[in-house]
Amino acid sequence: MSRIAYVNGQYVRHADAAVHVEDRGYQFADGVYEVCEVWRGKLVDVPRHLDRLDRSLSELRIGWPMARAAVEFVLRQVVRRNKVVNGLVYIQVTRGVSRRDHFFPPENVAPSIVVTARSASPAAAKAQAEKGIAVVSYPENRWPRVDIKTVALLPNVLAKQNAKENGGKEAWYVDGDGNVTEGGSTNAWIVTKEGVLVTRPAEGGILRGITREAVLELVQKEGLAFEERPFTLTEAYDAKEAFVTAATTLVMPVTKIDDRIIGNGHPGTVATRLRDLFHTATDLKAV
Ligand code: PDD
Repeated sequence: MSRIAYVNGQYVRHADAAVHVEDRGYQFADGVYEVCEVWRGKLVDVPRHLDRLDRSLSELRIGWPMARAAVEFVLRQVVRRNKVVNGLVYIQVTRGVSRRDHFFPPENVAPSIVVTARSASPAAAKAQAEKGIAVVSYPENRWPRVDIKTVALLPNVLAKQNAKENGGKEAWYVDGDGNVTEGGSTNAWIVTKEGVLVTRPAEGGILRGITREAVLELVQKEGLAFEERPFTLTEAYDAKEAFVTAATTLVMPVTKIDDRIIGNGHPGTVATRLRDLFHTATDLKAV
């Protein structure tokens, strides 16, 4: 079966899907994106993803490429046309196509939209989660507006590539104060020796992850001890558990940070429980 992408109003073969060379996303990284999990054919937390897309767009003064309901329809179409049962749907919106010029293009330039979807293996993810991942710390190298989900991901690419070259699956950014901000494409969490879950507040330095929000609700529902505050890399080294969250990873245990083994070197009970419960909570809202 050939994959299908949606590009500016048309469903096209993925192999032929293309945007113009003067798309501002291509030339200036002048665009935003969302990644939404597809679970058993349903889109997980799609209203929240579209709310965040709306916020990213308005922060950059880019318009919606079409009505929000139409965007949601296209997301579902692309998932359906690619027969994705479990996987991801990706949407990217840029400021559109215009002669290269740093200034915003004329009013009549329409934003560009691209939607793709792909399958992922829940069994492979489960196997990974049973093992845990290693993360590698990296000095914060991004602009301060990381709350906007822009396609300008070169700093993240470099941080994650460094992690890969050092045996890790994710990078953990560390800011000038020694605090872990977040992962290259995930939010970061620890469980202290006292059993308290800690994650950085979303008021600054991180993207307000949708998975993070869903897990926070779960944490409250389960009555787990919890603090939303910055934590240092040293604190993370000494933690009982660590894990990351994202639409791509869900709750993924971290068993090693740099050359330090976390806890007993196996996925922790809190992370494992939150992962197990995740879809029971989000399933209620997945449509
Ligand atoms: N990344 N922080 C960063 C920097 C991210 O890029 C992401 C998501 C997250 C987690 O957000 P959410 O829970 O809404 O997925 C946190 C996506 C998945 C990506 O770039 O592939």
